[in-house]
Amino acid sequence: MKVLGIGGSPRVNGNTDVILAAIISGAEEAGAETDLVHLRDYCITPCIGCEQCRKDLTCSRFLDGMHLLYPMVDEADALVLGSPTYNYNVTAEMKAFIDRLYPYYIFSDDRPRKYSSRLSDKSRIATVFAVCEQTDPSEKGFALEAMSRPLAALGYEVRDKFPVKGYFDRGSVRGDESVMKKAYEMGYRMGSGR
Ligand SMILES: Cc1cc2nc3c(=O)[nH]c(=O)nc-3n(C[C@H](O)[C@H](O)[C@H](O)COP(=O)(O)O)c2cc1C
Repeated sequence: MKVLGIGGSPRVNGNTDVILAAIISGAEEAGAETDLVHLRDYCITPCIGCEQCRKDLTCSRFLDGMHLLYPMVDEADALVLGSPTYNYNVTAEMKAFIDRLYPYYIFSDDRPRKYSSRLSDKSRIATVFAVCEQTDPSEKGFALEAMSRPLAALGYEVRDKFPVKGYFDRGSVRGDESVMKKAYEMGYRMGSGR
């Protein structure tokens, strides 16, 4: 079982980093091979819709950090995406990453195009989580859906969608035992293939 964790926070040692590390340590403890990357450490240019990837099956327009991540995505059986909530949505880093998964789609030639995914080649599972400051449900936003829906469209079975509310200060979620326990357990379950 290979588990790849991808963090979308620009803030080092922030709440997203803390939760992602707990998920990955659970997966590792369950015996999985793990990798953890922070998108802030990679230069990822936003997709420009040139459609060159239809022909080339990879992004040949931008030779950037995404080309270090594509092989990791290919190989992983399980993906964990985590993002802070920025203006009700995921961060720009996470959005750029998700859009650059576009080469994995296979489209038909009619309009609107029907789609399938080259990532449906094997059973793949995913977990997504989003951290936000506000606790009022009306402030929750759509960061979880912004990650889970594209992953489902790409062929992942999204097992967990974990909202973490009420955290603003850098890394303060570390003091919340129930969030940390849940994160670890989600990782453990993923790592053991359950
Ligand atoms: C630009 C920006 C936009 C934000 N927008 C929201 C928001 O819409 N809703 C919310 O509850 N929190 C919002 N926050 C707060 C962050 O989601 C919160 O501080 C989170 O813990 C940051 O995660 P991190 O520590 O991993 O960076 C925003 C923070 C920033 C910097």
